This record gives sequence, structure tokens and C-alpha cells, in this order.
Amino acid sequence: MKERLQRIISLRVNGRTYELSVGDGLTDMPESETLADTLRDRLGFTGLKIGCNQGACGCCTVIMNGKPITSCMTLTMDCDGGDITTIEGLADAATGELSGLQQAFLDNCGYQCGFCIPGIIMTAQALLDHNPDPTEEEVREALAGNYCRCGTHYTAVESIMAYVEQRRNGK
Ligand code: FES
Ligand code: FES
Repeated sequence: MKERLQRIISLRVNGRTYELSVGDGLTDMPESETLADTLRDRLGFTGLKIGCNQGACGCCTVIMNGKPITSCMTLTMDCDGGDITTIEGLADAATGELSGLQQAFLDNCGYQCGFCIPGIIMTAQALLDHNPDPTEEEVREALAGNYCRCGTHYTAVESIMAYVEQRRNGK
């Protein structure tokens, strides 16, 4: 009889720890599963979107260990011990109140269909975590890997800069 191969990995997502069994058993997560599929289909974080599924659009961006990553190009089994934030993790967990950055997209009409926006916001959040007062050029550079099929790049940048401006003014 074939021996079952299995390994337990753990992910911390939005402050909560999840243990996942990786292996070739019926209930195991296959080694080939991407982080995007694990977050959406196993753990229910459907805020991240899968567009191209090949690392080209940035819709699936999440923050892992302080860096923005394309989750469609990341194998979950390689994320053991990773500390991950998805778009759901930006809002206040207790009240559901949106973060200031999220609210800025609403206030400045920074989207059309919204499909690309979770990825754009997570990329912007990762930038702001390291550089709280970026220039517009730095924002544009950070967003170079995020594509919007509706052509709302300009309003996305405007929304982020409006948020940066708010913070400069201490609001
Ligand atoms: S869905 Fe991951 S980069 Fe496009
Ligand atoms: S707002 Fe529609 S894809 Fe960006």
C-alpha cells in the first residue's frame, strides 16, 4: 500500500493562525496549490481577485512578511510560517470600519468595476508601511505591476495621494 505523504504548515492571515495539511491524501492540500487559491477557496478571503493567474496583473496581491506578493505565483507550501495580510485585514476587525486608505478610494471615486482595487490597495498599503509620505512618482512606480482593465489608474493614484495628503495634514 502506498504510504501517505503529509506535512502540516501554518499560515497567519489577518492575525489568525491556520494549519493546513499538505500532501497527497484526499483531504490534503496539494503541493501545487497557489496561495491565491488557498486564501480564496480554503480560507474564504475572497477579497483578493484572480485576473491573469500568471503574475502579470497584480489583482491577487497580498502582503506577506511586509512585502507585496502576487499570490497566484506563490505556492502555499512555501509560505509556512508566513504572516499574511489580505484586503479584509485592513478594516477594523471589531467594527468593520474601513481603513483610511480604503475610505479614500470611496471618497475619491478611485475605481470603476473595482476588480483590480484590492490588489492596488494592498500594493499601496505595503508602500505606505515602509514609506508613509511617498511622492506621486513613488506611488506610480509602486503600482507599476498593477493593471486596471477599466483604466482607472489615474483615479487610483489620486485616491492614494489624497490619503497621503490627509495624513500630512494630521487628519
Ligand atoms: S492574478 Fe495574480 S498577478 Fe494576475
Ligand atoms: S476598476 Fe475595473 S479593473 Fe480596475
